[in-house]
Order: sequence, then C-alpha cells, then structure tokens
Amino acid sequence: MENAKNLEEFQAKIDAEIKIEPKDWMPEEYRQHLIRQMSQHAHSEVIGMQPEGNWITRSPSLRARKILMAKVQDEGGHGLYLYCATETLGVSREQLIKWLHEGKAKYASVFNYPSPTWADMGAIGWLVDGAAIVNQVSLQRTSYGPYSRAMVRICKEESFHQRQGYEIMATLMEGTAEQKKMAQEAFERWWWPSLMMFGPHDGDSPRSSNAMKWKIKRETNDDLRQQFIDKTIPQAELIGLKIPDANYKLLENGSYETSDIDWDEFWNVIKGNGPCNTQRIKQHAAAHDNGQWVREAAIAYNEKKEQQLKLA
Ligand code: 3HC
Repeated sequence: MENAKNLEEFQAKIDAEIKIEPKDWMPEEYRQHLIRQMSQHAHSEVIGMQPEGNWITRSPSLRARKILMAKVQDEGGHGLYLYCATETLGVSREQLIKWLHEGKAKYASVFNYPSPTWADMGAIGWLVDGAAIVNQVSLQRTSYGPYSRAMVRICKEESFHQRQGYEIMATLMEGTAEQKKMAQEAFERWWWPSLMMFGPHDGDSPRSSNAMKWKIKRETNDDLRQQFIDKTIPQAELIGLKIPDANYKLLENGSYETSDIDWDEFWNVIKGNGPCNTQRIKQHAAAHDNGQWVREAAIAYNEKKEQQLKLA
C-alpha cells in the first residue's frame, strides 16, 4: 500500500545507493517505469539481431562469419537476461511480447534502418554497440538490482561487439577505393541514428526526471550522447572516415560541437514510419509463432522432469 512513510523510506534507500530488489516494496510508478524501459531494452536486443543476422550467410570469410554469428548470438542472450530481469517485476514474457507485437512497446529506432552492405556490419558494431556501451556502462549503476546485474554481464560482451565492428571499418578503409566508399556510406547511414539512441534532448525527455530521481538513469541523455561523440569522432578520423556533419568542430575543452539531430526523423521513425519498422515486427512475430513448438516442448520436458523427481 502506498503511503508517505513507505515512499519516504523507498527514496531514502535510493539516495543511500541501496539496490532495490524484487521482493522489496516499491512505488507502482517505479515498477511500471522499469517494466517499460527494461522490456524495450530487451526488445531492442532481439530486434537488433535482424539487420546483422541477414549478413551471417553472406560474410566475406569464415572468420568474419564466425565473429558475426557469435555477436548475434550474444545479442539474443542479452535479450534473455533482460526479459528475465523484467519478469522479476511481476510481468510475463508473453505479455511483454504481446505489447511489442501490438505496437504498445518500443524498441530502439536505430534498428529500423536497412543494412545493405557488409560495411553496415562494421558501422553497426562500431557505432550502435559503441553507443550501447556508453549507455549500458552507466546503467550498471541503476537502482534496480536485477537490471544492474544484467548490465554488468552484458557490458563484458559489448566491447568485443564494438571492436569487431571497428576492425571491419578499419580494414575496409585500408582497402580499394570502392571499399573505402562502402565504409564511408555505411558511416553516413548509421551516424545520426546512433546519436538518436540516447533519446531526446534532456529538456524534451518526459521520462528523465523520474528516471534521475529514482537513479534508474545515472546520467542524462545529452551527457551520454556527448561522451559517445567525443569518443567516436577521433576513432573515425584515425581511419580516414569523413564525419557526416559539415559543422562539427573540436572545442578548447576537448569536446566536439556537432549539428543538431533531425528530431522530425527521430519521432517519425519511432512512430513507425522508418524504412524497416513493418518488416522488423513482421519477422519477429513470424519467428515467435514458428518457435511456439519449441516453447511447448521445453515446458512439456520440464513438467515430465518435475513429475519424475516427485516420483523418485
Ligand atoms: N528509440 C526508440 N524509442 C526511444 C528512443 C530511441 N532511440 N529514445 C527515446 N525513446 C522513447 C522512450 O522510450 C520514451 O518513450 P516511452 O515513454 O513510450 O517509452 C520517449 O522516447 C521519450 O524518451 P525519454 O528520454 O523520456 O525516455 P527514457 O528516459 O526511457 O530514455 C532511453 C530513453 C535513453 C532509450 C532509455 O530508455 C534507456 O536508456 N534505455 C535502455 C537502453 C536501451 O534501451 N538501449 C537500446 C539499444 S540496445 C542495443 O543497442 C543492443 C546492442 O547490443 C546492439
């Protein structure tokens, strides 16, 4: 039951950096905020497997295929950790997937863009996973225990994802003129959607005030975005890529000033009008339906095991 006393005690725990665990009392608004953010994070991990999964059979070498397969498998595992962590808040996996298929839950807009060349595998690993690392390293300190522990586990794998992407881009930039052009075009396709991953500007972020008060977020959208920009521009320049922003400049404090994001595009893609929104959800729903028999078999197997244990 929510009253001033338990609200006060809850906020005192948050302020004292005590992790909130599933069995602890929490305000319903805090629980709903976490279900929303954590499930959307999980959906993003799983939908994010599509643009890369399309390239596993078309990788340019056996080594490249092994690396990409490992990365895509990791993303599926990240989705699993995050769905399991979300279920500790008392919501079922089925319900979360239903909300996704009904368009009531989001996933990162960056995954609604096409990946037409092998260089897109490099740009996604380097930029999308690079942005995810900045966001997720910060989320390791989130106030909800299961989310924080999932982030610690996920971050251990993300740096491999970012490095393999950057290696693809660096290799292409040492290649033929055509390969350099392919890498530059992929950079231009993924630069701005990666900056959008950090969400709207702090002043336009309706969720941030609660997120910061409850220490779900430890740094703001704009602060994290700036960290990513300051880290990534030197990496791009090191391998000879041209920053897709005519106005960017290095400031005296070592940070970069960049043009503003096209927020009409941001909200338009989130509303469902991106290049791949329909296809991503259709493919996810088809895979979910085709996998029904696997879930049923696993449940039947588990029930049989439990019966045998009872009889033993
Ligand atoms: N794509 C889709 N929706 C976005 C978005 C984006 N890039 N940025 C913001 N939004 C949505 C928010 O979900 C919110 O909508 P909602 O209220 O319906 O959920 C609305 O826009 C307003 O944004 P806010 O900033 O107010 O919302 P948040 O406080 O939740 O901040 C966030 C948005 C920064 C994405 C935050 O939710 C977050 O940190 N989420 C966890 C990280 C995450 O989900 N990353 C996605 C990528 S996972 C990934 O990249 C996997 C990698 O391994 C490849």
